[in-house]
Amino acid sequence: MFIEVKNEKEMQQFGAKIGASFLGGEIVELIGDVGSGKTTLTKGIAVGLGVTENVQSPSFTINRVYSGHDGMTLSHYDFYRLNDAGIMADELQEVTSDKKTVTVIEWAGVVEGVLPIDRLTIKITSPTESMRQLELVAGGENSRKLLEGLKL
Ligand SMILES: Nc1ncnc2c1ncn2[C@@H]1O[C@H](COP(=O)(O)OP(=O)(O)OP(=O)(O)O)[C@@H](O)[C@H]1O
Ligand SMILES: [Mg+2]
Repeated sequence: MFIEVKNEKEMQQFGAKIGASFLGGEIVELIGDVGSGKTTLTKGIAVGLGVTENVQSPSFTINRVYSGHDGMTLSHYDFYRLNDAGIMADELQEVTSDKKTVTVIEWAGVVEGVLPIDRLTIKITSPTESMRQLELVAGGENSRKLLEGLKL
């Protein structure tokens, strides 16, 4: 499934829409070049999840955690600067199996092997300065239902 957003605001609005549909346990992998809008999309997802804190890029910290509504947690990872998953692999397995946690991952390459197959993958490309094309791919049954429920 493909979605086009015209600008940063629309990217955040789209994130908020999918975030609002999450119930916990969702895993979202974001693929795209530097500056394609992965963190911007995550900011929107956070809004949809009821996070009131300002979401910042976890580039230097690898992981940031935020509280959303109804006891849900947003766990946002960025593995750009990590060459080896190490103990992060164990942590990630735990986090992604938590039913109250929504996991969003940028630059997942190094942890690809430990991520559940059933995840929502969003590939972002930038045809122009402010346009973004999003390709949404469901890796399994849960994420397929999730996509259906979005009625895009
Ligand atoms: N349609 C759009 N959607 C998202 N961001 C946009 C859009 N148009 C322009 N931008 C700009 O592109 C940049 C996206 O930055 P962002 O930090 O979200 O990218 P990123 O994919 O997370 O990069 P990185 O790989 O470095 O983490 C911002 O400066 C934003 O203003
Ligand atoms: Mg980012």
